[in-house]
Amino acid sequence: MANSSPPPGTADIFPEEAALWRRLEETARTVFGLYGYGELRTPVFEYTEVFKRGIGDQTEVVQKEMYSFDDRGGRSLTLRPEGTAGIMRALLGTDVMNGNEKRVFYMGPMFRGERPAAGRRRQFHQVGVENVGRVAPELDAECIAMLMHYLRELGIPDAQLLINTRGAREDRKPAEDTLRAFFREHIDKMCNDCKTRLDKNIWRILDCKQHECRKIIGSTPEYLTSFSQESQDYFKRVCDVLNTMGIAYKVDPLLVRGLDYYVHTVFEVTHSGLGAQNAISGGGRYELFLPEENKPMLGVGFGIGLERLLMVQEALKVPPPVDSVQPVFLLSMGDQARDFNLKLAARLRFAGIPTAVEVEAKSMKAQMRSANKVNAGYVIICGDDELAKGIVVCKEMKTGAQNEFSADQLLDFLKNK
Ligand code: HAM
Repeated sequence: MANSSPPPGTADIFPEEAALWRRLEETARTVFGLYGYGELRTPVFEYTEVFKRGIGDQTEVVQKEMYSFDDRGGRSLTLRPEGTAGIMRALLGTDVMNGNEKRVFYMGPMFRGERPAAGRRRQFHQVGVENVGRVAPELDAECIAMLMHYLRELGIPDAQLLINTRGAREDRKPAEDTLRAFFREHIDKMCNDCKTRLDKNIWRILDCKQHECRKIIGSTPEYLTSFSQESQDYFKRVCDVLNTMGIAYKVDPLLVRGLDYYVHTVFEVTHSGLGAQNAISGGGRYELFLPEENKPMLGVGFGIGLERLLMVQEALKVPPPVDSVQPVFLLSMGDQARDFNLKLAARLRFAGIPTAVEVEAKSMKAQMRSANKVNAGYVIICGDDELAKGIVVCKEMKTGAQNEFSADQLLDFLKNK
């Protein structure tokens, strides 16, 4: 037997489930639209360099997780592991470079070669937003507020928001010295990855998941005060605006995020309904460098994992959207009546009326069963007698009420339903 499974870490989404996905996407369009965001669609693959430079050569995503390949022209391309770098590439050279603000959202598949697990896929889906061009703590707070608004609309009012600051790039050195001095004392008891991180990327130690390392990370010294006053003020303003807006959050100094482009505000939203892979969303302010550019793209944004959103909705028992489509079902007895129905079906569909039609000669009983299966609202019955009289019988399934109509009358009747 042929194996019907798609490759590991990917999934098929069948029509019943697709309704749940559409709700996530449609709600995103509505909510983000309220804040002035427009949709930007970029390719699912980019030049590999866009991600290497944009996300950072030393990140886990770039080092271990990218699906990269050479095309026939010898170009190195990569399936997008995230949305931000490609969006910045598309906006390069537009007026965001002169400090004009652009608000865009996007949705679609992303690809990371991770070990598949619950809530961790190789092809997963994000909706994301980017507010590009301007720098202001109020914009960071508004972006977070929009994320929480979106989650509330989806029946997830109780997600936990964690925020932190990475400071400005120039602030990092003193903080790194503090962290390095602390971890150097304990490095013997830490994992091999952390030993490498100590010199290569000290911040990555803070989100190491190893049990022994976590014990040490728990006593990480305070480093925020080694950031410049401007950076501390920036973060304080973000927190103040969130307070003003009544948005609950927790400051988590261990939250550093896995992509190198972040500066100042970073945030993650988690939910207890998710277990180990508990981030529904992550984002922050960034300065993203594109290949051969020495000026970064500035913005703030977030990405939300749709698979994880669905898991949370399921854990919270958010009711699925009601499928309100109740097609008209055309039932026929005899070959001529069937041909008549095929033509009638086309007329009804052109008039915008969802219609199912039985195409095979079957018993009345079998056809009624099919009508029930598709949840028909009305069944239209046509046989030789009806044909001769130029009418059809229209039966309302809920009440059992029957009427006789000509084809034109039927169309009028159904259009007004
Ligand atoms: P990220 O934290 O890497 O950020 O991903 C955002 C969200 O995508 C995660 O919180 C998670 O819900 C989902 N996600 C990530 N990897 C997987 C996976 N393998 N399987 C299932 N879901 C996954 C970014 O991607 C940034 N571009 C966000 C951003 C936008 N920052 C600024 N602007």
